[in-house]
Amino acid sequence: MQPRTDNGPLQQLDQWDDFVATRYRQGKSEEDFRNYKADANPTVTEFYRQNHAFQTLDFVLSKKAEYCSLHRDRQSIWEMAEYLNTLVDDSDPDTDLTQIEHLLQTAEAIRKDGHARWFILAGFVHDLGKVLCLYGEPQWAVVGDTFPVGCGYSDQIVFPEFFATNPDSKIPEYRTDYGIYEPNCGLDKVHLSFGHDEYIYQATRGYLPEEAQYMLRYHSFYAAHRHGAYRHLMNAQDERMFEWVRKFNQYDLYSKGRERPKTQEILPYYQDLVSEFFPDRIAW
Ligand SMILES: [Fe+2]
Ligand SMILES: [Fe+2]
Repeated sequence: MQPRTDNGPLQQLDQWDDFVATRYRQGKSEEDFRNYKADANPTVTEFYRQNHAFQTLDFVLSKKAEYCSLHRDRQSIWEMAEYLNTLVDDSDPDTDLTQIEHLLQTAEAIRKDGHARWFILAGFVHDLGKVLCLYGEPQWAVVGDTFPVGCGYSDQIVFPEFFATNPDSKIPEYRTDYGIYEPNCGLDKVHLSFGHDEYIYQATRGYLPEEAQYMLRYHSFYAAHRHGAYRHLMNAQDERMFEWVRKFNQYDLYSKGRERPKTQEILPYYQDLVSEFFPDRIAW
C-alpha cells in the first residue's frame, strides 16, 4: 500500500467528486441546488476555501508552464492508469471503487448507450490528470470546480464568498466581467483554475476529436456547463461544443454507485480502444 498523499483536507480525492454528484442529484430542484452547503461536510468546505483562496492567475500560469509543455515523462495510457491507481488515500478497498474502476464505470455507461468509440475513450481517460496529486500537487490544484482567473468571479461558482481571500480579488483589472480578456474571445484564450482537466486535455489533445477534447478540458467547469455562466467569454464554437460537455457530464456524475465493473472481462475491449487512438507512449 502506498502512503496517503497528505496534501489537503480531503480524506480522499473522490470526496470532491462525491460532493458534486450529491449537488446535482437527479430530480433535485434549483432551490435544492442552492442549498449545496448542506451537502458539504467541513472537509469539503475547507477544501473549497483553499481552492478559491490560492488559485490566482499567476499560479495558473506557473502550473501551465510546468506541466502543459509535457516534458515530464513518456508513459502509456495504461501505465498512467496503473500509476493513478496507487492513489489510495483513506479509501476502503471493500466498498470504494479504485480510480481505474471509476474510469471503466464511466466508459461502460457511455458504451451501454451506444455512443461512438472516441466518446467511450474520453470516459476512460477523463480523470487520468489526477496523477497531479501523485506529483505532489495539493488537492486544491488537482480537483474542484474550475473557473476563469483574471476576470470577475461568477456567483454561479460554489462558495463564491471564499474568493474574498484570493489576492486577485484585490486587483481592479481582474475584477471586471471581462478582466484581461476580450468579449467572446473563446475559452481557448481564457485561463481556468488549474487542475486535472487541463492536464489530461493537454496530454491527449493530439489524439482525440475536438468534442472529446472539450469534454476533458471542461468537465469540471460547472458554472458554465451547468449554470450558463461566462457566456460573455465563449464563442460560437464553445457554445456548440458545450453540448458535448453536458452530454459527457451525465456519465461522470451518475455512473458511480452502479455495480463494480467486471474489469478482467472488459479489459481486452479497452486495450483495443486505447491502441486505436494512442501510440504506445505519449508525452506527459
Ligand atoms: Fe474529473
Ligand atoms: Fe470523473
